[in-house]
Amino acid sequence: MLSEKTINDIKLLATKYPDKRSALMPALHLAQKEIGHLPDAVLDDIAEIIGVSRTEASSVATFYTMYTREPRGTHTIFFCNDLPCALRGADEMLEQLEHKLGCKAGQTTADGKITLREAECLGGCDHAPVALIDGAEHQSDLTLEKLDALVARLINS
Ligand code: FES
Repeated sequence: MLSEKTINDIKLLATKYPDKRSALMPALHLAQKEIGHLPDAVLDDIAEIIGVSRTEASSVATFYTMYTREPRGTHTIFFCNDLPCALRGADEMLEQLEHKLGCKAGQTTADGKITLREAECLGGCDHAPVALIDGAEHQSDLTLEKLDALVARLINS
């Protein structure tokens, strides 16, 4: 399932760390970049290449929000639901997002365009509520109007 190039890159990673488990996270990144998510067969391959157990590979892949075991849409909205964001209206905003997208948190829109995920603190509590788009773009001080504009932009991109 992984390309020969990615397999070789992961093999190289495994030689760079005194503790081979340290290569696991960058290896998962490489695999997810290529495949889009981390299915069982890919975790098996990574575990074998690096020389860790499948349980270790699976536990890292499921612990961190930046990894996904399921296919995601073209865009992913991570919406913070921790207390500081909740105190500034995140619950109502999440409901609006679900309504606009026609899917619940944890799901992907029917057209495969946007995946909505709840997230723990995204590190921007002083500008709550906060969302992280595609793992790279922070949207802060969110309002219902800003969310509408964000969804419209993602749908049309
Ligand atoms: Fe939402 Fe920290 S609680 S960004």
